[in-house]
Amino acid sequence: MTTTPDGGFGIYVHWPFCAAKCPYCDFNSHVRHQPVDQDRFVAAFERELAHFAAWTPNRTVQSIFFGGGTPSLMLPRTVERILEAIARHWAIDTDVEISLEANPSSVEAERFRGYRAAGVNRVSLGVQALNDQDLRQLGRLHDVAGALQAIEIARETFPRLSFDLIYARPGQTVTGWEAELRQAVKLAADHLSLYQLTIEEGTPFFNLYQAGKLIVPDPDLGAEFYELTQDLTADLGLPAYEVSNHARPGAECRHNLVYWRYGDYVGVGPGAHGRLSLGATKRATAIERHPETWLAHVEERGHGMVEDLPLSDEEQGDEYLLMGLRLIEGVDMRRYERLSGRSIDPRRLNDLLEHGMVEKLDETRVRATRDGFFVLDAVVADLAA
Ligand SMILES: C[S@@+](CC[C@H](N)C(=O)[O-])C[C@H]1O[C@@H](n2cnc3c(N)ncnc32)[C@H](O)[C@@H]1O
Ligand code: SF4
Repeated sequence: MTTTPDGGFGIYVHWPFCAAKCPYCDFNSHVRHQPVDQDRFVAAFERELAHFAAWTPNRTVQSIFFGGGTPSLMLPRTVERILEAIARHWAIDTDVEISLEANPSSVEAERFRGYRAAGVNRVSLGVQALNDQDLRQLGRLHDVAGALQAIEIARETFPRLSFDLIYARPGQTVTGWEAELRQAVKLAADHLSLYQLTIEEGTPFFNLYQAGKLIVPDPDLGAEFYELTQDLTADLGLPAYEVSNHARPGAECRHNLVYWRYGDYVGVGPGAHGRLSLGATKRATAIERHPETWLAHVEERGHGMVEDLPLSDEEQGDEYLLMGLRLIEGVDMRRYERLSGRSIDPRRLNDLLEHGMVEKLDETRVRATRDGFFVLDAVVADLAA
């Protein structure tokens, strides 16, 4: 018999390489000038999966996500072997979602049919902008024509397709974004991820920003971009279901829902994180970030885990709120009580309701309002205090 934890069960596979490093990105991604030995990486993924499978027998996998980095640099055979390994260890839901993040270059688009044959049924394309000048400024290797072509090939190849755009870019106007967003909704089948540009410490964009050489929209203008994004996508039939994610109802990314509904997930590959309910405790796992060090660890001891911590009831409650309040469906206060062992203070809840930071959906569910989304960490801190 298999069991499904509250929120579901998924597997995240991190591919840590990119063809070039984008100047705004602080994901765990590395550029290698020598070809990556994919056979050796597959063997390491197989071993790390086996390690986590021994912890989580009798689970049914509802989603698998190849993230990065740039997973579309993986050979189709690499993806196939990892999927075969997963199927050897766990039962797979008949309706499993298997997503892969792809960069929209022509070389990568050529591999799409191979990924589909391997079992991938959803692709998320890193389009980022529908404007050549901005794509260059973002340091991207593709242009708009290439992105449109990749979208078309992906649409013909996969049952489900999403793409990412970054907005509130240096010099971008709200009107310019509106036109781009209208085009994006037309191109998108049923899902879009729309991220406001974040200036991440340690990136070249951060240094330019500090030096006054990169001007990004101030918080008020950022809020205007955000409002427009929410209103327009809702009008056009792709409403937000999470802070940055938009879908036609029913087309939400099931993998991301596992995170936000505080389900369980195995995270394998350099820098991956996991959350696993084992017995009465939920554990937080983290994997070595550096790709070759990870390889060496796995080859030596069967996994690259550098952290494996039991989460206290309080931490679980906090995490549930932090993840769940990102969702338009909000959180269930009874589940919060079950996880944290305490209830939300009614006075604090009333305060937040009165200030318009959260709203009640019914007796047990609350969600953040649009104003609440802007100060989500503070809302969570208040509710969990
Ligand atoms: C891990 S990346 C993987 C996708 C793929 N490598 C690509 O870039 O096309 C996931 C997404 O995060 C977004 N992203 C990365 N850095 C960001 C930043 N500093 N601000 C906003 N969005 C960012 C991009 O839209 C990107 O597509
Ligand atoms: S944004 Fe994507 S392609 Fe660019 S460095 Fe980050 S992970 Fe790689």
